[in-house]
Amino acid sequence: MTKRALITGITGQDGSYLTEHLLSLGYEVHGLVRRVALEDPTRRFTRIEQVLDRVTLHAASLESYPSIFHLFSKHEYDECYHLAAQSFVAESFLDGFSTMNVNINGTHYMLAAIRELQPRCRFYFAGSSEMFGKVRDVPQREETPFHPRSPYGISKVAGFELTRNYREAYGMFALSGLLFNHEGPRRGFEFVTRKITSTVARIKAGQADELRLGNLEARRDWGHAKDYVRAMHLMLQQDEPDDYVVATGETHTVREFCQRAFAEVGLDWQQYVKIDEQFYRPAEVDLLVGDPSKARERLGWEPEYSFEELIREMVREDVRALAGATGARA
Ligand code: NAP
Ligand code: GDD
Repeated sequence: MTKRALITGITGQDGSYLTEHLLSLGYEVHGLVRRVALEDPTRRFTRIEQVLDRVTLHAASLESYPSIFHLFSKHEYDECYHLAAQSFVAESFLDGFSTMNVNINGTHYMLAAIRELQPRCRFYFAGSSEMFGKVRDVPQREETPFHPRSPYGISKVAGFELTRNYREAYGMFALSGLLFNHEGPRRGFEFVTRKITSTVARIKAGQADELRLGNLEARRDWGHAKDYVRAMHLMLQQDEPDDYVVATGETHTVREFCQRAFAEVGLDWQQYVKIDEQFYRPAEVDLLVGDPSKARERLGWEPEYSFEELIREMVREDVRALAGATGARA
């Protein structure tokens, strides 16, 4: 029988890749979107334009329990992937209140509505390596204690705990993926990887002459979003709900990402990168590197992209998009 899935955050990087993955598996895919997005489809649906005729979109507000309740009154879902969030860490320092509101209350509304109306619907919560923050173990595993360093990280710890509590208190199939940074050509321009690759393309095309960045020493475990959405789906197919770290197990500095991205187009990064204090954060997460052993052993999950392939694809797609080629979204 065809399975029906609901994706919140369907217009985002992960939502778009997950939609394509679930459609390829024969799912019927529904998405929650903001009403303003439905009113401005050409700008707001760029990541899902290629699948718009194959998905059902519902306007709803994550800030309103009645709105979420109404959404779950209309259709029965087998699986729900709750990806919608204010996901930019730097923004969460500027407006911690709205980050908390959307990320914590939005998650609570989803869980409460599912419990009330569709308790058999399987629920995925988009947890984050930002929850480990000032890390207590290297590499970070499912058992590593949390020490979030931003309002965003705090909101994800709260969402994780809410999800666990609904699982333990009400027997719901609700779990969290503890996903490390994952990127790709659809990444938002404000995140460091896409900021770098898009600026590299502009510099190469003669449209920019510098790249202003903050902390080059931060280390991240960067994978490709296409690989990570496969893990989300696998988690919901298991017999028992459980939480999983999803990571590559490799860590690299922002400096190294820059070096490789500029080298892709034959440029020396040191001639273009300028340090700008405004991009430093009040509290930094210095080192992230995950141990994906549990996902590998229990889900049979392996990433297909290497760090080098990720950077190559992102630079290539940004160069191509700038050159006006069609099909810029890989
Ligand atoms: P993204 O590209 O920033 O997408 C965020 C999505 O959330 C968008 O569809 C956005 O809709 C939606 N959204 C934001 N605020 C909303 C609101 N108030 N009401 C309804 N929808 C709202 O993020 P992503 O990289 O795909 O990440 C997906 C999820 O995984 C997020 O929860 C993120 O925190 C988490 N995560 C990401 C990573 C990573 O490295 N990418 C790692 C760990 C966890 P609009 O298009 O309308 O703005
Ligand atoms: N964005 C940005 N811009 N980051 C910069 C810059 C800059 O100009 N210069 C240095 N950085 C450093 C940041 O200080 C951080 O240490 C690192 O680059 C990565 O920043 P982001 O790409 O913004 O991602 P993030 O690690 O803070 O958060 C992302 O990954 C999390 C998982 O660990 C987001 O996708 C989160 O939603 C996700 O949960």
